[in-house]
Amino acid sequence: MPRISDSALRRMEKSARSAAARAYAPYSSFPVGAAVLGGSGKIYAGCNVENASYGLCNCAERTAIFSAVAAGERSIRAVTVYTPTPLPTAPCGACRQVIHEFGPDALVISVCDARNRVETKLSALLPGAFGPGDLP
Ligand code: THU
Repeated sequence: MPRISDSALRRMEKSARSAAARAYAPYSSFPVGAAVLGGSGKIYAGCNVENASYGLCNCAERTAIFSAVAAGERSIRAVTVYTPTPLPTAPCGACRQVIHEFGPDALVISVCDARNRVETKLSALLPGAFGPGDLP
């Protein structure tokens, strides 16, 4: 798999940061933005979408992934998540599992309100994952 260009990574970061402004987060007041780089090279944005029935809240990462899949993507090369925090935060466990479905080797980048960032692989965040290949 060819390396992801710096320009694509920059566009993803911009997209994740601006998506947070569209978050629907009246319960947590924690707006999150995400961007996904699909196998086609297109970038898809997502934000968290909360619900008065709290358990139905959807994270920014999953919103972005579902949007990519709904647009026809079947693989994910990278995910960038922006949180309005002084330190970068990693995707939650549910999002890691959903990223695994489409991007077991995906790059995962966390950015925040400071210059700090974390760049890792989904395989490091979810080792030994259960996935499509485990089903009979
Ligand atoms: N949230 C995300 O959207 N992504 C993350 O990586 C962490 C958590 C959302 C879920 C919920 O709407 C709010 O942040 C507080 O947990």
